[in-house]
Amino acid sequence: MQESISALAAEVAAADVSSAAALDQFRLLYLGRKGRLADLFDQLKTVPGEQKRAVGQQLNGLKQQAQARFDEAQAALESASANQPADATFDYTLPTVPQALGTRHPLSLVREQMLRIFARIGFAVAEGPEIEDDWHNFTALNFPENHPARDMQDTFFVEPALGGDAGPDPQPFLLRTHTSTVQVRIMENEPLPIRRVMPGRVYRNEAISARAHMLFHQIEGLYIDENVSFADLKQTLYYFVRELFGEDINIRFRPSYFPFTEPSAEIDITCLICKGAGCNICKGTGWVEIGGSGMVDPAVLENCGIDSQKYSGYAWGMGIERITMLKYQIKDLRLFTENDVRFLRQFEAL
Ligand code: DAH
Repeated sequence: MQESISALAAEVAAADVSSAAALDQFRLLYLGRKGRLADLFDQLKTVPGEQKRAVGQQLNGLKQQAQARFDEAQAALESASANQPADATFDYTLPTVPQALGTRHPLSLVREQMLRIFARIGFAVAEGPEIEDDWHNFTALNFPENHPARDMQDTFFVEPALGGDAGPDPQPFLLRTHTSTVQVRIMENEPLPIRRVMPGRVYRNEAISARAHMLFHQIEGLYIDENVSFADLKQTLYYFVRELFGEDINIRFRPSYFPFTEPSAEIDITCLICKGAGCNICKGTGWVEIGGSGMVDPAVLENCGIDSQKYSGYAWGMGIERITMLKYQIKDLRLFTENDVRFLRQFEAL
């Protein structure tokens, strides 16, 4: 027994513990429950009574020695691996693999440019749902019951069975035909004064062509306070057009009709192609239209719970596709949705 203990002690002292694998082997062979040391502990019961104590002490000593060797080697291995890079053979000076980055969509670029211009004069962004009800898209905005814009030709309706309001008087939901719906939501819910821009998608039941699409984007604007005048509207839009297109571009207001504004005006700017001289894009007039505007009709203010005796306001709505086409002289609306990278990449640096 004495000899076995000394032999094992010599073995433990000499064993290889220089790698993680060797250390694992060491643990199994000497410290494990089925290891060599455990064997010797088992044999302790065969040792004569008067020697048991001394042999037992020797075995415990050997066990401590083995454990100490193990702990020390393990700590050494861990600190060595912590000081090494994860992969010591990796060359960190190699150039990286080039990453093909996508580009921003021209409509996103122009939308953000437009919103930034309005932000500088205090217009904060608001958004609203694309699936709407008749109230927000038409009734609150003063559309008469028989107005042609309510016609099935223009509006995509959602069947009550498919999620429209199926109450006692079923009201179809619809895809909003303009962002003016968000004006209503803002006027109904926000404290005065209101100074908001509202970008978003709109839908109309139109055949897709170079000039029309069933899905496009608008930016709506709304300002409501005491003593707001048409001159304020003109000044805001003058500022916007000059910021976006440059000092030599002019703006004019052409009398028009919208149910929710009185008076109403369409907004024209100098044709960017011919600079006002007259060309086939502007049909020889020197002007192109970018949107509609006007003073919010008092009936609309009242529909939304605002005192029209005390407050007045102006609003406008502009097509983002329209403005992007003018700015970059894009001739076909369909290019925006075709996802042709040869088209999209041209806006990278703009
Ligand atoms: N909602 C109108 C359209 O889509 C555009 C418009 C006109 C918006 C006049 C306005 C406005 O806010 O005041 O044709």
